[in-house]
Amino acid sequence: MRPGRRPSANLGGMDGERKAGGVTQAAQALQALADSLRDCTRCGLCGGRTQVVFGVGSPVAELMFVGEGPGFHEDTQGEPFVGQAGKLLTELLGGIGLGRRDVYIANVVKCRPPENRDPAPDEIEACSPHLMDQMAIIRPRVVCTLGRFATKLLADTELSMTAIHGKAKQRTLAGVDVVVFPVFHPAAALYAPANRQVLVQDFAKLRRLLELGAEALTPAGLADAIAASEVSPHEGAKPGGAGQVRPSGDAEGKPRPVAARTEQLPLW
Ligand code: URA
Repeated sequence: MRPGRRPSANLGGMDGERKAGGVTQAAQALQALADSLRDCTRCGLCGGRTQVVFGVGSPVAELMFVGEGPGFHEDTQGEPFVGQAGKLLTELLGGIGLGRRDVYIANVVKCRPPENRDPAPDEIEACSPHLMDQMAIIRPRVVCTLGRFATKLLADTELSMTAIHGKAKQRTLAGVDVVVFPVFHPAAALYAPANRQVLVQDFAKLRRLLELGAEALTPAGLADAIAASEVSPHEGAKPGGAGQVRPSGDAEGKPRPVAARTEQLPLW
């Protein structure tokens, strides 16, 4: 994980280096960036938008979500993931003990593509530097990509979502060392309910990944994290369920994750 950044089980919390004035500074930097984009005309999407949908959440979030682009509701309200897919994202977050304000949520493109079509390559190219600017300010530890557009851009892969969802990849993005963790786009679960359970399981892995911090970056460590999160659907990720912490603590007395064995190859 990032040098000098201690792994933290305090999901959505901030580490020491960001505490002293860091939150205000990051919030101001994000606001300045948002202001600079209000009248953006760098791509054709500007013609059809109601407003630029910049992003929402903690300016120092350890976990950042990146979706595809605003839809009708997001364009109207000016906030990412507020429609049906957004409701599911909020539910999935709640399932791992997080709220929207604990994380940061943004999109690959910040203006609504007409008729909710896929964003075009030139639109992604024009808009992605703004996403990188957001990342450089927020400095997340984990970037969870929602669906193929964000995954292709941030994990730099042509592999299918089916092949790589729920697995981690180390990358340096905008000068920040992050773990990219792709999951299905929540909209995919609205039309194919089987995907919902896959998302629930991947979010349980995401929680373990956040809890393990640096330890998760070794293949064995992440394998442990994933094995520990392989819980039965009715157990979910709730405290005391399978995949939870064992009583013994680390040097600071914090509980350590259960280290179960697995044959999975979680890094790719
Ligand atoms: N889908 C996305 O990819 N982003 C949103 O903000 C809403 C729906």
